[in-house]
Amino acid sequence: MKPLNDRKQIKMNLFEAKNLSVSVGDKIILKSLNLSIAAGEIQALLGPNGSGKSSLAHTVIGYPQYNVTGGEIIYKDQFINDWPPEKRSLAGLMITHQIPVNIPGVSVGEYLRLTTSKHHPAPGFRQKLRDVLQKVGLGDDFASRDLDSGISGGERKRLEIATVLLHQPEFLILDEIDSGLDVDALKTLSQILKQYLNGNRSILVISHQEKILEILKPDKAQLISNGSIVKSGDYQLARDVNEHGYHALGVF
Ligand SMILES: Nc1ncnc2c1ncn2[C@@H]1O[C@H](COP(=O)(O)OP(=O)(O)OP(=O)(O)O)[C@@H](O)[C@H]1O
Ligand SMILES: [Mg+2]
Repeated sequence: MKPLNDRKQIKMNLFEAKNLSVSVGDKIILKSLNLSIAAGEIQALLGPNGSGKSSLAHTVIGYPQYNVTGGEIIYKDQFINDWPPEKRSLAGLMITHQIPVNIPGVSVGEYLRLTTSKHHPAPGFRQKLRDVLQKVGLGDDFASRDLDSGISGGERKRLEIATVLLHQPEFLILDEIDSGLDVDALKTLSQILKQYLNGNRSILVISHQEKILEILKPDKAQLISNGSIVKSGDYQLARDVNEHGYHALGVF
C-alpha cells in the first residue's frame, strides 16, 4: 500500500514517469527520470542532441527495444509498464515521430486507417479522413499516395498531425513536429494543435525551436541531460535555453 500523500500525488497527474530507467541493449539511456503532467497541461521538453528525449517518447508508447530497468510509468492512476503499445494507444497515449515511419507498398489512406481505425467507428472514416487531410493542408487525393513515394519532409509532418486529429489522444508527445515545416505551415499547424488541445488534453512538446513554443505557450519546461531531468521551470526557462544555450545554463 502506498503512503497517502503518494497516492494523492498520482491522482492529480494524468501521466507520470517515476525514477524511470531505460536501456537499449547494454546502453543505459534514461536514468531515474522524473516527470509528471497534469490533465490539460502543456509542457516543453528541451535538451541537447542525444540527451534522451525521443527515447522517453519511445518508452512511453512501449517500443519493445526500450527496456525499462527501473521505475514506473503511470497513466490515469494505472501502472502501465507492462502494457503493450496497442493497449497504451487505445487508452489515449500517442507520440508523433521525429522521423516519421515509412512503409513501402502502403498508401497514406491505408496507413491512417490502420493506425487510427480502432479509435473511431468504421462508418464515416472516409469522410473523416478527407476532412482531416483537408485541414492539415493535404488534398483529398493524398490518401492514395504511396507512403514510400516522394512525400516531402513537411508533408510527412502534416501527416503526423492528421494522425493526431484522427487518433484524438489524451496525452500526446510531439517529437520535433516542427522540424522541416516552413514558417507558414508551422503557424497553421500549431494553431490546429492548439485548437485540438482545447485546454483539456495534455502534451509534451519536444523541440529545438522557439516558434512552436511561442504559439503553444507551455505551462512548464523541463530540461533533460544525459537521460535525467536536470532543471524544471516555466516558459521562461525555454526562452533562456533558446537565448543562451545549454552550456550557459550549466546543462551539457
Ligand atoms: N534504439 C536505440 N539503439 C541504440 N541507441 C539508442 C537507441 N535509441 C536511442 N539511442 C541512443 O540514446 C541516446 C539518446 O537518443 P535520443 O534519440 O533519445 O536523443 P534525443 O534527445 O531525442 O536527441 P535529438 O535532439 O538529436 O533528437 C543517443 O545516444 C542515442 O544514440
Ligand atoms: Mg530526438
